[in-house]
Order: sequence, then C-alpha cells, then structure tokens
Amino acid sequence: MNIVVLNGSPKGELSVTLQYVRYAAQKFPQHTFRFFPVAQKIRKLEMDDASFREVIDAVREADAVLWAFPLYFLLVCSQYKRFIEMIFERNQLPAFQGKYAAAISTSVHFFDHTAHNYIHAICDDLQMKYLGGYSADMYDLMKKPERKRWLFFAETFADAVSRRIPTAIAYPPLTSRAFKYEPGPSAATIDAGAHKILVIVDGQEPSGNVNGLISSLTGNFRGAVEVVRLTDIDIKGGCLGCCKCGLDNVCEYEGKDGFIDFYNEKVKRADAVVFAGAIHDRYLSATWKTFFDRSFFNTHVPTLIGKKIAFLISGPLGQIPNLRQILEAYGEFQQADLAGIVTDETGDSRQMDRMLAELAGRLVRPVPEGCTRPMTFLGVGGRKIFRDEVYGKLRFVFQSDHRYYKKHGLYDFPQKNHKVRRMNLIMTLLTKVPRVRKKLLKALKDEMVKPVKYIAENR
Ligand SMILES: Cc1cc2nc3c(=O)[nH]c(=O)nc-3n(C[C@H](O)[C@H](O)[C@H](O)COP(=O)(O)O)c2cc1C
Repeated sequence: MNIVVLNGSPKGELSVTLQYVRYAAQKFPQHTFRFFPVAQKIRKLEMDDASFREVIDAVREADAVLWAFPLYFLLVCSQYKRFIEMIFERNQLPAFQGKYAAAISTSVHFFDHTAHNYIHAICDDLQMKYLGGYSADMYDLMKKPERKRWLFFAETFADAVSRRIPTAIAYPPLTSRAFKYEPGPSAATIDAGAHKILVIVDGQEPSGNVNGLISSLTGNFRGAVEVVRLTDIDIKGGCLGCCKCGLDNVCEYEGKDGFIDFYNEKVKRADAVVFAGAIHDRYLSATWKTFFDRSFFNTHVPTLIGKKIAFLISGPLGQIPNLRQILEAYGEFQQADLAGIVTDETGDSRQMDRMLAELAGRLVRPVPEGCTRPMTFLGVGGRKIFRDEVYGKLRFVFQSDHRYYKKHGLYDFPQKNHKVRRMNLIMTLLTKVPRVRKKLLKALKDEMVKPVKYIAENR
C-alpha cells in the first residue's frame, strides 16, 4: 500500500509527530510511506508550483493519505492551514477525492478534538474517505502500551483501506448565500472615552462582508477606534515551534519582524480587542492562524485578562460549531470578557446594524469587578491541563509559565485542600460501617443541598 504522509509540523524532520509515523512505517515494511514536509516548506510550495505539484501528484497516486500534525493553538499550525487553503485555491480537489484518509496528532490534549474535527471536516470537504483520527500525547511513544495502541490503529487503518470499506460523511458541505451587507448611516452615539478599542482584521481576500461589519461597528463610536490589518504588519512567517519563548517569552523572531511589538504595544495595551475575518474553509484565514500561533511567544500565560473581546465573522459560522467553540475557548483561556460574536448570517442589514450597535455598547460598558461570566468546561478544563503540564514535564522548558503560575496561585491542585482531605478521610471511613453507610446514603440528597440551601434562604 502506498501511503502519503502530509507532515504538518513546522519542524519538518524534527517533528515529534513524525516519529510516530516512522515507527509505524518501520513496523509495517509491506507498505510504502512517502513523506512531505508541507508545513515546513510552505513558502517553497507557495512560490514554486513544481514543488506543490509534486505533493499533489503523490496524493493522486496514493492509496491513502495520512495527515500528521502537531496541535497548534486549538488547530493545526498556520503553515498547514495555508497548505489546505492552497489545495482549494488551486482547484486540486480531484487528487484527494475518493482517497482514504486518517489523522495522527501529538499534543498535550488541549483542544486536540477541535483540530481533529477540523481535519475530519476538511477531508469531508475534499470528498476523501475519512477513517479516523489518533490523538497521541506528545511522549506516548515512550510507553509500550501506547505503542501497541498506535500500531493497532495503523493496522486497522491499512486493513480498512485494503478492504475498501464504506465511510460516512460527518460534516456536510457548507452552504453560503450571496448577501451584501449595506450598513446604515453611522450613529456615533457611544463615547468610547479613554477606552482603547483595537480592531484587527487579516486583510485577506475573499473578505465577504468583513469591511462592512467593521465600518458599521466602529461607526457607533465617537472618537477614534484603531483598525489594524495583519497584512500591513511585517510578519516574516508562522511560529517555528522552537519553544525558545518558554524560558523568558523571547521569541526567535524578536527584532526580526514587527509581530511582537505589535502584540505587546497594541494588543496588550487595548481595553477591547475586536477580531474580524471571513471564514476560509472551516476556520478563519491562515493569516489569522499566523496571528494566533505567533502569539504563543506568551506561552501558556493569558494576555487579555479582563479585556473585552469580540469577533466579527463573515461566513457560515452557524454551520461550523467547531469554530465557534474555538473562538469561545479563546476568550475563556485568555480570561477575557467575550462581548459577542456577530456574523452576517442573518442576511438582514438593518438587524446587523442593531446587533453591531449593541455589541459596540457592550465593548465599553463596565462590568463590576468579579462579574464577568464564569468559565465553562472550555476554560476550566484547559486551565487544569496547562496547570498539570507546566507543573510537570513542561516546566523546565516553560520556566516563565512556572513563575507566573506560582505567583498567581494557578497551582490549585486539590491535594492542597487539607480541610477537604480530612473530610474525605473521615467520611470514607464512616461509609465502611454498615449502619452509618445506610443512614448516610438515605440522607445524601439532603446533605448535598444543605449548604447551598442555607445560603439561598439566609443571605
Ligand atoms: C505554537 C504552539 C502552539 C501549541 N498549541 C497547542 C495546543 O493548542 N494544544 C496542545 O495540546 N498542544 C499544543 N502545542 C504543543 C504541540 O502540539 C506538541 O508539542 C506537539 O507534540 C509538537 O509536535 P511536533 O514536534 O510534531 O511539531 C503547541 C505548541 C506550539 C509550539
């Protein structure tokens, strides 16, 4: 069997993920694996048509395609995203159509599901036959049971391809309608006062109704709102994955392009940040992805704490719940206050005017201390993953995170709660006594509600 491996790591040969595929390739010598470092060589693929064609021709001749990628900021890295965009832009769908596909990622399992959902949806859009995704922890390959698990997946994949099993589509094609948003006259009723409102737009085409969304939102404010195009900033490239930033948040690109200054001087100093862009395939543009990946020089420390944020999206966001989850999760782990997400899906210009006016108001409306909405699983779960990773095996690389987590009380492991530990010990012992156990189980519902009921009735 002829398998094409699309290596989605900016580190190319030094990719951790790639070692998983190499391991499988060595165990299954009856299959041929062809490796293409499409993320690392993205500039070349963009500039040199022959190189891009070589990848596409290999896909066309292959029996199956393996998407092998690291998690980058809840998705694949910007370079891989760009490669995917190029497949569509250059009309190379036929090479992928009908091919079997699977995905392997490595990560620390922080939003690995959203990246896998994305790749699965891309496979469906390319009319491939998707057989499943394998999400490994970065160092799983070091463990014998995990190697066994991974080889079983690879074997099952090869078997399914050889038997040409039927597959189902999980993500139906997106439908979009032609609608031109015509913003109403600017109201300019909201005084932004000393609030610094920053609108960032990628500047990528096609941009749909993005410019209309921005002009309508900003038209609600008296005074200046800064609008910055990412294409006007000197960004030399995507994140290289070198993790040099881990020690002191100093990026490999420091002093070499304009991104870090932009992020430190504009984004971090704004009171409200509005992210605007059109949907490109199942996400925003690769340019937007570059912004998020490059912001990783702040490593696992939130940089938008307490700021208002909002998203202006042109395109069928309602059909891509995966992307909505990514945007909401971004707000939560940044500890920002998500003021809203406005899209052009209503197809009604006047309604959009009203939604944008409302959003403009929310962007400057003060929220009393401690009154932003509580985090959901997206923020709570993500925070615990980072806490454990930074405390554990990532610590010596991400030293600046460790310092921050220690200083800000983020190491809130349950084992530090001595009161709860004492209670658990006593109660566990008591449940061993049959008579007490019976009584306790009978009273459990009453006891569980008791403390909150007391507050509800007495405060
Ligand atoms: C810029 C950047 C962003 C990352 N984002 C995530 C993430 O969102 N979720 C996660 O679990 N791991 C994330 N990671 C960790 C990588 O996915 C992980 O280290 C992976 O094993 C690297 O694989 P590679 O060596 O094949 O590139 C990120 C790493 C970098 C450098």
